[in-house]
Amino acid sequence: MSSARIVVVGTGYVGLTTGACLASLGHRVTCVDVDEAKVARLSAGRVDILEPGLAELVGRGLAARRLSFVVGAREAVATADAVFLCVPTPMGAGGSADLRAVEAVTDEIRDTVPSGCALVTKSTVPVGTARRIRALLGRADVPVVSNPEFLREGTAVADFLGPDRIVVGSDDEAAARRVADLYEQLSAPVVVTDAASAELVKYAANCFLAMKLSYVNAVAELCERLGADIEAVTEGMGHDRRIGRSFLKPGPGWGGSCLPKDTAAMVRFAEAAGYDFTMLTAAISENLAQRERVLAKIAGAVGGNLSGARVGVLGLAFKAGTDDLRDSPALAVASALFAHGAEVTAYDPAVGGELPGMIVVDDPYQVAKGADVVVLLTEWNEFRRLDWAYMAELMVGDTVVDTRNLLDPHTVLDAGLIWQGIGRPHARIPVALR
Ligand code: UDX
Repeated sequence: MSSARIVVVGTGYVGLTTGACLASLGHRVTCVDVDEAKVARLSAGRVDILEPGLAELVGRGLAARRLSFVVGAREAVATADAVFLCVPTPMGAGGSADLRAVEAVTDEIRDTVPSGCALVTKSTVPVGTARRIRALLGRADVPVVSNPEFLREGTAVADFLGPDRIVVGSDDEAAARRVADLYEQLSAPVVVTDAASAELVKYAANCFLAMKLSYVNAVAELCERLGADIEAVTEGMGHDRRIGRSFLKPGPGWGGSCLPKDTAAMVRFAEAAGYDFTMLTAAISENLAQRERVLAKIAGAVGGNLSGARVGVLGLAFKAGTDDLRDSPALAVASALFAHGAEVTAYDPAVGGELPGMIVVDDPYQVAKGADVVVLLTEWNEFRRLDWAYMAELMVGDTVVDTRNLLDPHTVLDAGLIWQGIGRPHARIPVALR
């Protein structure tokens, strides 16, 4: 399909990226949202999401009249070749995905969606949702297709336009192929399958990544106990092509808008299918244990008691390159420090405003002022370039807890401070890793 008429419902993170990128591939895209003010802002080219390249793509799409924003899906879908559902599927009761937004859109477009138009789920939805939507829609002439997204925040546009793979699944194979054709300009492997398999790919992939990270964090813990260095261990593991080098970085635990939600949901639907997914529940528990270990490390740096300790926090976003605080391990650790009685001053290059339990400042050096300990929680590159000698002067205490192993330990040590990473010996860093 060289130029298709596409409607994208939901202009959140996934929807806006999908809409703007599909328009850049030459399709005519109408993005729909219920929020009138947001539609007005987007129509004027104003993008509130921090995502490299997205605002430019939206601007280009608007200028070329290939991209538009409207309120209300009912009318918008009337001439569509494909409708992408990109509405939120938050974690609902007991960890299962809340599908009310998907169901509301299905209801709204039931009578207006044209015959043969593919209804595509892009949001992460539990296995079986495509079939459920088809039943709910009650239209045999409208195929439902699952086309999961694998976008990472911070690189969403690049991930969309240069994907590792495209996965499209439907019980109507011809419809799945039509949706796959929308991406024909992208040179990526295409997996065309049934709806349930496509839906499961997304969970299987994200949960695998979560398990990989929990595993790395657990090995890092073992490194500390055995006097080994996780950076050397993961370097040695990562060269094995079956393992790969990415997603091997220890940290304060994994978070964000996807991994916590998807792991909880997969445990839930596995359970509903009669399978106790203990590997995954262990990965989730390990993630919480990692936060506790980080807290204990910080407490250790201030003599064992956090109550009354002044803690300077560098980084609040769930990872670098985003201002997203959803399920952020950094924010969780900062909040837990406050709950244990610490006075928390925090800086994040992308996060401002007020947050409960801490003072958010707009200068990284302010977090060091009078701090008993400085804790680095998000791997922003700019933290590497801080003047650590000056940080040391401002601090009262002498320890930097670097939960991302981001800093060069020697720079910190040379500033007269103690550096503590995750899974690394802090007294002795092997020459080869310098
Ligand atoms: C993730 C998936 O990667 C993506 O494919 C999916 O579509 C959405 O969920 P995202 O939530 O943007 O993307 O974050 P990601 O880059 O995967 O990081 C997830 C968490 O793992 C973050 O908290 C990050 O800090 C942590 N992480 C990641 C590590 O601790 N170490 C690593 O090596 C990589």
